[in-house]
Amino acid sequence: MKGLVLSGGSGTRLRPLTHTGAKQLVPVANKPILFYVLDNLVEAGVREIGMIISPETGKEIQATVGDGSRWNASITYILQEYPGGLAHAVQTARDYLADSPFVMYLGDNLIGSGIREFSERFRGETPDAQILLKAVEDPSSFGIAEVDERGHVLRLVEKPKEPRSNLALVGIYFFSPKIHEAIGQITPSWRGELEITDAIQKLIDWGCRVQSEIIDAWWLDTGKKDDLLHANLVVLDEWIRRDVRGEVRGHSVVTGRVQIPESSVIVDSTLRGPVVVGENVLIERSFIGPYSSIGNGCVIRDSSVEHVVILESCRVEAIQRLEDSIIGKNSVVRRRDGQTEGLCLMVGDDCVVEL
Ligand code: G1P
Repeated sequence: MKGLVLSGGSGTRLRPLTHTGAKQLVPVANKPILFYVLDNLVEAGVREIGMIISPETGKEIQATVGDGSRWNASITYILQEYPGGLAHAVQTARDYLADSPFVMYLGDNLIGSGIREFSERFRGETPDAQILLKAVEDPSSFGIAEVDERGHVLRLVEKPKEPRSNLALVGIYFFSPKIHEAIGQITPSWRGELEITDAIQKLIDWGCRVQSEIIDAWWLDTGKKDDLLHANLVVLDEWIRRDVRGEVRGHSVVTGRVQIPESSVIVDSTLRGPVVVGENVLIERSFIGPYSSIGNGCVIRDSSVEHVVILESCRVEAIQRLEDSIIGKNSVVRRRDGQTEGLCLMVGDDCVVEL
C-alpha cells in the first residue's frame, strides 16, 4: 500500500497564529505536524509515500522533509499547480499511485493514536474505501457522514448547512484504485473544488463497499478546528516523557516530564513539566511552567512563562507571567529597562498581541 500525504495550500491561515510558511510545518511540542503524519505512516508499514506540494510552500516542505531517509521511507514530491480540492490532488498523483491501494493523509491532521490497526483492517477486508470518523461540535465545517447502527455509511455531505449527524470525516482515508473511476465522474462543488467526499459518495451510489470506523483517540485538525495552543497542550500531556540531557546549572530545579536536549543550557531556573525545550536554548533566572514549548534557538531571561508556544529564535526578557500565549518566530518580547509597566514588543510577522 502506498501513502499520499497532502501538504499543499498557501499557508496563509493557522488559528490563532497566521503563519506565512507551510501550515504542515508548524511545530506542535517542537515537532512539525507533518513529522507526526510521516511517523504514523511508516509505523503502519507504508514506506512509499507521495507528497503533494503547492507552488507557494513546496520548496519549504521539501527542504524540511527531504527524501524520506530520516524515516527509512521513499518520498516522491508531486506538484499540484493550484488548490483544486482533495480529489484533484489524487488525480494529480494518478501516475504515481498507478493501481496500488493507498492511504491518503492530510498533512495538517494529528490523531492521538497510530493508524496501523485501521490499515490492517483495510488490507484484510479489502473494501473499496475505508473512512475514519469522529464526533465534532461544529459539523458544518467538515465532511459529515450518516451511518446506520452497524457502521455502514449511508451518505456523505461536505460541510452541510443543516447537518444530519455530527460525525466528521477525519483527514485519513484508505482507498482501492476504484476511487480514480469515481473521481472521474464528479464535478466541482460550490467552492470550486473536486471534493473527495463527493467521490466517496459516488462509490456508495454504485453499491461499492465503503466502511467506516469511529476513532476513540483524539483528533486535532490544526488547519481549522483547533488552535496551536490546544494542540500543544494535548500533545505535551499525552506524549512527552522526561529526558533531560542539557546542562542544568546553579540553583535550577527541573521537575516532571521535561525534555532538554544536550545543546541547551538552564541556569538558575525552575522548569515544571510537561515542557519541551528545543536545541540551543538558553534559559536563565526564569520559571517555565507546565504546557510550554520553547523553540530552537530561544533565549529566555528573568521571565516567567506558562502554557506558551514560543517558536524558534525568540528572545523573552524580563517578562513576568506570560501565559496562554503564542509567540511567532524571531520575535522579541521584553520589558523596557527601568519600566514597571508597559511592554516593549517586537513581534514576528502577522502575530496577534494582546496586552
Ligand atoms: C477537508 C475535507 C473534509 C474533512 C476535513 C478533515 O476539509 O473536505 O471532508 O472533514 O478535510 O480535516 P477542508 O480542509 O478541505 O476544508
